[in-house]
Amino acid sequence: MHSSNTVQHRATVSRSRREQQNKHRSVIIWYTGLSGSGKSTVAHAVEEKLHLAGCRTFVFDGDNVRHGLCANLSFSEDDRHENIRRIGEMAKLFIEAGVIAMTAFISPFRADREGVRALVSENDFIEIYCDSPLEICEERDVKGLYKRARAGEIKNYTGISSPYEAPENPDLILDTAGDSVETNVGKVLNFLEERHIFSRK
Ligand code: ADX
Repeated sequence: MHSSNTVQHRATVSRSRREQQNKHRSVIIWYTGLSGSGKSTVAHAVEEKLHLAGCRTFVFDGDNVRHGLCANLSFSEDDRHENIRRIGEMAKLFIEAGVIAMTAFISPFRADREGVRALVSENDFIEIYCDSPLEICEERDVKGLYKRARAGEIKNYTGISSPYEAPENPDLILDTAGDSVETNVGKVLNFLEERHIFSRK
């Protein structure tokens, strides 16, 4: 579907002016991994540190997106593609707004994640793989959904009856089964400093 007869208005307050005012770069930090792999936990803990360092941040995750913007989407393959497409477009707007935009979605399909990467410039997309074996995620079963999926009560459950395609070349891999949240937050912050996204000084 295309919107015809629309003309984009060019903002005079540009992304680079916002970044200068904020004293940090804006970027999409895309966390991917199985349900229960710690994506939201790490994203919110990183956000806490960045906020204290004076950065403009926002975390998108299932709870604030699947109840609103994507409330009409299921967990079918097509709807997951659409879920990630919308989140990608939203995150792109947030980087235009000068924000460090973090997303915490399973995003199980490699092509969908690569689609978001292709939406923005090379330096604007950081893919972080929250690597935790299915057995550990299932053991944690924070929401009790794995148990229900095993019992056949939930169809197309990622890792059980629907695939998860791990990233082949992520920017950063976090061992979210073996390392503490604190260690993983430190790894992300160091990475962001190395990439000159923000500075703790
Ligand atoms: S994604 O595949 O489209 O990226 P998303 O991250 O938005 O998924 O939502 C995943 C969360 O929805 C899971 O953490 C889990 O709590 C819940 N959920 C409900 N049904 C499913 C399902 N069939 N597969 C995976 N997660 C599900």
